[in-house]
Amino acid sequence: MPFFSVTKEMAIGTAVLGVAFATGVLAGKKYPFLAFGIPRSSKTLLGKGGPLWQYILDHSLREHPVLKKLRLLTLDHPWGRMMVSCDQAQLMANLAKLIKAKKAIEIGVFTGYNTLNMALVLPDDGKVVACDINEDYVSIGKPLWKEAGVEHKIDLRIKPAIQTLDELLADGEAGTYDFAFIDADKQSYNEYYEKCLRLIRKGGIIAIDNVLWHGKVLKPSKNDMETQSLHHLNEKIFRDVRVNISMLPMGDGVTLAFKL
Ligand SMILES: C[S@@+](CC[C@H](N)C(=O)[O-])C[C@H]1O[C@@H](n2cnc3c(N)ncnc32)[C@H](O)[C@@H]1O
Repeated sequence: MPFFSVTKEMAIGTAVLGVAFATGVLAGKKYPFLAFGIPRSSKTLLGKGGPLWQYILDHSLREHPVLKKLRLLTLDHPWGRMMVSCDQAQLMANLAKLIKAKKAIEIGVFTGYNTLNMALVLPDDGKVVACDINEDYVSIGKPLWKEAGVEHKIDLRIKPAIQTLDELLADGEAGTYDFAFIDADKQSYNEYYEKCLRLIRKGGIIAIDNVLWHGKVLKPSKNDMETQSLHHLNEKIFRDVRVNISMLPMGDGVTLAFKL
């Protein structure tokens, strides 16, 4: 497809993203006292957490009851702030539905909020390949995947995500996935992005989380390898002609890359 041409699905997607952008200015991620998964630092960065942001959630968040249960359970965890923001998860679920996604990849599961979120919108024969190295985190959410009746759609792989992605590629699954969410160790993001680009079909979407990294990307210090990694990837994706992109100030910043 020529660089600037868009499919009907992408055009509708752009409209959805316009709304998402507008709400994203005020919405966010990890904000424990409001229990929607928003970090305090984001409040300073994006002016989130005020009554208008709460209003947006009150008037747009349509969370499955089991998903809500998992969110509240996760917020009790000492690392609960690692959870994806609920508004961002809802946008990703809407996009997955829009492109009629059947196969998704979750890189960084934690307690499985977004894994469940994606599994809920995939068709019954769809699957989420869920990658994490920490079985303890995942075991918190696993019973709720069952309770929601979608456990059969989740293919959990406890090992370094790079290894899982290489296995998928070796199994001949390149170009067969519809959606990927990158949300694990920041220094591997470039590798995750490149492997996901091979695994995703044309018209598929890669969502990359934490691209603003609490504002640190504005002035990445030399020794901060996580910020360096995120900043370099942001610069690379900006110039990447293999994808169309939107960088949204939602949560800790999320880039949506639409594969051309
Ligand atoms: C920010 S959390 C993921 C949040 C999750 N996406 C959600 O829906 O709430 C990051 C996760 O990445 C996992 N992780 C870290 N390094 C990893 C690696 N090399 N391979 C796979 N998972 C990894 C961590 O164990 C942690 O559970």
